[in-house]
Amino acid sequence: MKKKSFLFCPVITGLFLLLTLQIIVVSGQPLNKEYLSSSKNSYGNHLAQTPPMGWNSWNAFHTDITEQKIKDAAAALVSSGMKAAGYEYINIDDAWMDTVRDAQGRLQADPKRFPHGIKALADYVHSLGLKIGIYESAGTKTCAGFPGSLYHEKTDAESFAKWGIDYLKLDNCYNEGVDYMQRYEGMEKALLATGRPIVYSLCEWGVKDPYQWAPAISNLWRTTGDISDNWNSMINIVDEQVGLEKYAGPGHWNDPDMLEVGNGGMTNTEYRTHFSMWAILAAPLIAGNDLFHMTEPTRDILTNKDVIAVNQDPAGKQGYKVSDDGDQEVWVKPMSDGSFAVLLLNRGENRAFMTTTVEQVGLKKATSYKVVNLWGQGNQDEDKSYSTNDLIRSSVASHGVAMFRVWPESK
Ligand code: GLA
Repeated sequence: MKKKSFLFCPVITGLFLLLTLQIIVVSGQPLNKEYLSSSKNSYGNHLAQTPPMGWNSWNAFHTDITEQKIKDAAAALVSSGMKAAGYEYINIDDAWMDTVRDAQGRLQADPKRFPHGIKALADYVHSLGLKIGIYESAGTKTCAGFPGSLYHEKTDAESFAKWGIDYLKLDNCYNEGVDYMQRYEGMEKALLATGRPIVYSLCEWGVKDPYQWAPAISNLWRTTGDISDNWNSMINIVDEQVGLEKYAGPGHWNDPDMLEVGNGGMTNTEYRTHFSMWAILAAPLIAGNDLFHMTEPTRDILTNKDVIAVNQDPAGKQGYKVSDDGDQEVWVKPMSDGSFAVLLLNRGENRAFMTTTVEQVGLKKATSYKVVNLWGQGNQDEDKSYSTNDLIRSSVASHGVAMFRVWPESK
């Protein structure tokens, strides 16, 4: 039994123990199985090393899209300062295509709404220093009833690559019960065969536990059904992310769906909560509002650099919940520099005074800690930043958050 004697060889076992000990010592924390598994490499394109940031047409416009609207969004992404804040992808969602394929069986853009075709649009988006994404379905039709990519993976991937597409969202409508792996892996192989780096985003709605299999074949995968522009929808999606942190990491992300910030169905307090939660969850930050008609408060939320830095941290650790008292929750996200992002979430109907401790957060021992409020001035006559040796606290509005970054200070 060769295998057995290899496993129990004392030299190998000793080396293994030494390595394990080293990992514990280096990280200064007990081995976290979840984070070890999240560091595995996945889909072979080396893209999306941090959660993708960009804009998608669906939440604001649904099927009512035109070439001009996409161009306006791209220009607004630049002029609003969103590009400077890190937003990069302009993603066209459903309904960009003609109802029929061309004589060669290739997809074609709707000639009325996209008169210059997708290649010209991609060239324009690229000329602004941005990247462009497109939508299809791993079914016989898209959700809006346009030609689907199932059984056309090679042809469609080649069209996308030829047009200069950088990101593909692949939906799940009209899948005819065909095995999910066959459908989603079929497109993965077709995309890789084009040789063009294309971020691959699965929109399978979390039906077949995609976090179990999607990390190996894609860059991101939807974990739930569609978000709607209201508090209940958004906060229910947050609840569905609990426990999924072990599956995310650089190159492969859980996707709790696109942002609704600025679409009008929530208050600015609720939109700040939405954005902060997506940041803590290391979720893709894909804005879904009408960028051309964006209000100042919406812009301020979407471009908060400190909150975006939490989302884009290179360690790529998805945040998780450390306490839950019904209406009050504490979420944390370990950052690559030894700090933690800390979020106090008040789901209740009344303002609440909330606290957590450096110990509950999981911060390493230090004499004091620097606490920076990422949404500006605190509500306790606190400064934007303060020092503590224990409590992190804030009064938090109903449906609101307080969000901090906390650094151990060595004295
Ligand atoms: C599905 C997806 C949405 C959107 C629409 C388009 O519902 O989950 O995100 O792409 O299809 O029809």
